[in-house]
Amino acid sequence: MSDATKHPASRRCLVTGGAGFIGSHLVERLLSRGDHVTVVDDLSTGRDSNLPPSAPGLRFVRAGLSQTLPTLASEVAAGQEPFHEVYHLAAAVGVKLVIDDPIGSIETNVAQTGELLRFVQRACPRAALLIASSSEVYGKSDRIPFREDDDVTYGPTTKSRWSYACSKAIDEYLALAYHQQHGLRVVIARFFNTVGPRQVGDYGMVLPRFVEAALAGTPIIVHGDGRQTRCFCDVRDVASVLPRMLGEPACVGRVFNLGGDRSISMIDLARAVKTTLSSSSEVRLIPYDQAYSGAFEDLRQREPDLTRLRAAVGFEPTFTLERTIADLAQHLRSGAAQTSSGIEGSVR
Ligand SMILES: NC(=O)c1ccc[n+]([C@@H]2O[C@H](COP(=O)([O-])OP(=O)(O)OC[C@H]3O[C@@H](n4cnc5c(N)ncnc54)[C@H](O)[C@@H]3O)[C@@H](O)[C@H]2O)c1
Repeated sequence: MSDATKHPASRRCLVTGGAGFIGSHLVERLLSRGDHVTVVDDLSTGRDSNLPPSAPGLRFVRAGLSQTLPTLASEVAAGQEPFHEVYHLAAAVGVKLVIDDPIGSIETNVAQTGELLRFVQRACPRAALLIASSSEVYGKSDRIPFREDDDVTYGPTTKSRWSYACSKAIDEYLALAYHQQHGLRVVIARFFNTVGPRQVGDYGMVLPRFVEAALAGTPIIVHGDGRQTRCFCDVRDVASVLPRMLGEPACVGRVFNLGGDRSISMIDLARAVKTTLSSSSEVRLIPYDQAYSGAFEDLRQREPDLTRLRAAVGFEPTFTLERTIADLAQHLRSGAAQTSSGIEGSVR
């Protein structure tokens, strides 16, 4: 672990999973605010090239969260100033990863959040803490749009697809319990589909898969009948609202949907990618059982009600889908997604 660079920042922030897709955009945001940011990331799905190579105020700990928390706790015990803000984004992410490695995913998502909450309670009890949850928590609900207090229904435990939703729901229960029992200043964000530069398609994420295919001129593969709908939000809109949520006392102890609220079907998304990038790719439908070896169960629609978030922090997404597609394509073309320095072989 390298020493933190001295920086005259008023805030000390911890970002778990900060070398990941959303985390790295958030880190940029915090650094531009003048904060001193500690990133803990094991690069299991993140990339060190997502982080600025040398930024005053940035400390990167390349290690698992469980292994790192005792060190961070002893630093505070030895007189280091406690973190003012903690953003917990580290997780096993993506339906494909969760189906391929259910044990690792459940353990990462549940056990580590428990360890992090204990760390915050003991080492920095006055910190504001953001827990990254997911729209998956809504399970099979067919109510549109999803409201934070809706009831939820999951599939059976024999379908590993639902373990991600349940693991994130447990994280929420645990975080809210720490708020209730210990007064931790917890804010829960249920991310809906977040998209943009630095997202990679390796773990089943739809937009980078479509954009990669469109750039390569290979078929853009759409699962099922393509009429399932999702709402997308640019990662830069998401990253800019997270610090505002932690800075707003009205958000503490509450759950918020976070995403875009304009629905688009997967077939229309594929067409939008093709048109925006002037690609010659064919859009092709394939059945789910060919894509996910039988363990998959999809949801037809997923749309957030953003009333609560708008009331609390005035959230309004600013990036259009076309701009996001173009910027993601630009990022992929530049080769930035392939140039993780020195982490070959460390991706699970
Ligand atoms: N991207 C989305 O659309 C979306 C949707 C719903 C929820 N989320 C949540 O947002 C958060 C960030 O997701 P993302 O899309 O940026 O994915 P990501 O995979 O890019 O980021 C997760 C990061 O956590 C790191 N990580 C994983 N396990 C770790 C561990 N044990 N110790 C340290 N670091 C570890 C990974 O290396 C990676 O950098 C996650 O909690 C995810 O569940 C994202």
